[in-house]
Amino acid sequence: MSGVSPIEPGASPSGARPAAVSSRPALAAEGLVKHFPIRTGVFGRANAHVRAVDGVSFEVGAGRTFAIVGESGCGKSTVARLLLRLIEPDAGRIALDGEDLRAAEGAVLRRLRGRIQLVFQDPYGSLNPRMTAGDMLAEPLMLHGTAEASARGARVSELLSQVGLRADAARRYPHEFSGGQRQRLAIARALAAGPRVIVCDEPVSALDVSIQAQILNLLADLQRRLGLAYVFISHDLAVVRQIATDIGVMYLGRFVETGPAATVFATPRHPYTRALLSAVPVPDPAARGREPAIGGDVPSPLEPPPGCAFHTRCPHADARCRAETPPLAPTGEGDGVALACWRWREIAPPASARAARTRPDPALARLQAAFAR
Ligand SMILES: Nc1ncnc2c1ncn2[C@@H]1O[C@H](COP(=O)(O)OP(=O)(O)OP(=O)(O)O)[C@@H](O)[C@H]1O
Ligand code: SF4
Ligand SMILES: [Mg+2]
Repeated sequence: MSGVSPIEPGASPSGARPAAVSSRPALAAEGLVKHFPIRTGVFGRANAHVRAVDGVSFEVGAGRTFAIVGESGCGKSTVARLLLRLIEPDAGRIALDGEDLRAAEGAVLRRLRGRIQLVFQDPYGSLNPRMTAGDMLAEPLMLHGTAEASARGARVSELLSQVGLRADAARRYPHEFSGGQRQRLAIARALAAGPRVIVCDEPVSALDVSIQAQILNLLADLQRRLGLAYVFISHDLAVVRQIATDIGVMYLGRFVETGPAATVFATPRHPYTRALLSAVPVPDPAARGREPAIGGDVPSPLEPPPGCAFHTRCPHADARCRAETPPLAPTGEGDGVALACWRWREIAPPASARAARTRPDPALARLQAAFAR
């Protein structure tokens, strides 16, 4: 099954990991809400709220990558900070392998914090410039108790090797590494805590394209070897296309389309997803929904538009769109996709046309089989 699916209110998240290991997803988020108060005036009263995250649910299984995409300011990093409990949600639930992260305190919280780690866009933000790489890797080993004191040196060397750095890198300081090497070190530091889930917030956005590919390959390789679950945040759909197994397209604090990445990329149905994808170069332009590039700016999350928040930019908006908020609901086509749009059936290409596009041409399949022999 897909590693991600919207969690119906009140329902428990269903499992995405192999049953022999656990029937629960590595990470499940349910109904996350974060509204930041804006305080003004002499008494500093909150007279407005930025609705940064407004009811986000998803789950991701071991060995899978759930990508969160959307324009700047739509709430991606806020979701990341909520998942790590760097900020507290106003509502919602976060479970790691079925354990409630929000309810955890003290030693339990410390243990669970090791299970979910964050890799940022700018590794400088997470690497202490006054510590050597070796000390930086030894610190989480000690903090999370993932290696005995006598085994720490060997584990540091192993971590460096796992991310493609030489053992002598342990003696170097962050400024002595290149940008790509620093991101490798940040990944090693995340691994040192023994995580099951890594949240990557724009992890390759600051890197040259050739280095981006190396880091994406490293992440994919580590995932295969260690069965890690990734939440991969990016505004770059070309990067997401390479790494995601599942995807959530976010607009003004909510998902508007979720589902298996291959299906969403091949047959985007929400007008926002179609508009986002129309800006991405793909080998077969006929394989994505044709939609004009989106005009206008994202409305302020201080005062999101009523009804469907996308209606101010959507070429298909009608009176109902302006008045009623569409819920994120499964398509009912058994494809694992959920959409928040009143009109997707009317405006998306018919299912028969989509099926024809995604089903391999029998003549082509025979030809490919002949080449494969
Ligand atoms: N501490 C805060 N106080 C008030 N508003 C905040 C705070 N943190 C984030 N916001 C606002 O919440 C909204 C979502 O921000 P967030 O950083 O999650 O967006 P993002 O999708 O990660 O954007 P980007 O792609 O630019 O990184 C934005 O309007 C932002 O200004
Ligand atoms: S609900 Fe209406 S405004 Fe919103 S995306 Fe669908 S068609 Fe456009
Ligand atoms: Mg961000």
